[in-house]
Amino acid sequence: MADKKVIAVLGSTGSQGGGLCRAILADAAGGFACRAVTRDTTKDKAKALAAAGAEVVKGDLDDVESLKKAFAGAHGVYAVTNFWEHFSGEKEKAQAKNVAEAAKAAGVKHVVWSTLEDIRKFMKADDKRMPMLQEKYRVPHFDAKAEANASFSGLPTTFLVTSFYWDNLYMFGLAPKKGDDGKLAWTFPMGTSKMAGIAAEDIGKVAYGIFKGGDQYVGKTVGVMGEALTIEQMGQTLSKVLGVGPIKYNAVEADVYRSFGFPGADEMGNMFQAYRDFDKEMLANRSVDTARKLNPALQSFEQFVTKQQAAIKTAMGI
Ligand SMILES: NC(=O)c1ccc[n+]([C@@H]2O[C@H](COP(=O)([O-])OP(=O)(O)OC[C@H]3O[C@@H](n4cnc5c(N)ncnc54)[C@H](OP(=O)(O)O)[C@@H]3O)[C@@H](O)[C@H]2O)c1
Repeated sequence: MADKKVIAVLGSTGSQGGGLCRAILADAAGGFACRAVTRDTTKDKAKALAAAGAEVVKGDLDDVESLKKAFAGAHGVYAVTNFWEHFSGEKEKAQAKNVAEAAKAAGVKHVVWSTLEDIRKFMKADDKRMPMLQEKYRVPHFDAKAEANASFSGLPTTFLVTSFYWDNLYMFGLAPKKGDDGKLAWTFPMGTSKMAGIAAEDIGKVAYGIFKGGDQYVGKTVGVMGEALTIEQMGQTLSKVLGVGPIKYNAVEADVYRSFGFPGADEMGNMFQAYRDFDKEMLANRSVDTARKLNPALQSFEQFVTKQQAAIKTAMGI
């Protein structure tokens, strides 16, 4: 361990950071060690990382001193904030600022910041197509992360632009469901646009590729996706792999989706609308080739569905 470069991994008990820790641990000869940061070192996911060989330490994004301790002596930091825990763009920016301050204090050599683009740049401020949320954001969890990029100035940072997790099908309730007619259907305000998607686990593997690549990625923005697909195409792949009948796609307007009333419906409605209306820009910000270069095991949607079919079927109620 002593001669290995330690990566302090935020979100280690979650999708992105967990994927990175597992990638580091799976490559014993790779020269890196995973220091898994969590608020609760006793939780099952933290214990599993420790059992797999990670150093597990306490750290809280809201407590800069705890982050300074967690980052001490580390070569790198994987920085990810979790918007969905608090739904606040302001809090996300404050947490990113804490990470940057602690990374500066620890003198780390490489930060990979998991960010997204500023959707406000695609529209004039008075554009009425999409409502402002939290007073000043179009898509708070995108715009706030983009604003937080500035906190990392002066640090050797790679800005990792991620994509929609296909895992949302089973983790976020977005899988097709049977309607009253017994037929499978799903509803998105995506029209016929292609959405950049990725298996969440692959984001961590990409991040590992960035740390291994080192200086060549410092100061760079790296946008990644597994594949860009329309909702129809995703439905066809689900039907094929899971052996179910056709999946009906209800292409609703974004206003309709925003009105669904579940927590975050407005945020998700704006996000899908951004993927739909600014598909060219958003796809241009992400590359399958770059993702595959950094993570040769990058999954296509079909490979992802094949691997996760049990969880997806459960989520679909089939
Ligand atoms: N879902 C998507 O499609 C998608 C796509 C692109 C980007 N994203 C972004 O991904 C981010 C979430 O990452 P994820 O999906 O990897 O997370 P996740 O699986 O939901 O897990 C959340 C992680 O964040 C950690 N965390 C939360 N609050 C913390 C705090 N105050 N201090 C320390 N750690 C904290 C948790 O650690 P402990 O609980 O162990 O402390 C946990 O490891 C969100 O900001 C979201 O916008 C999501």
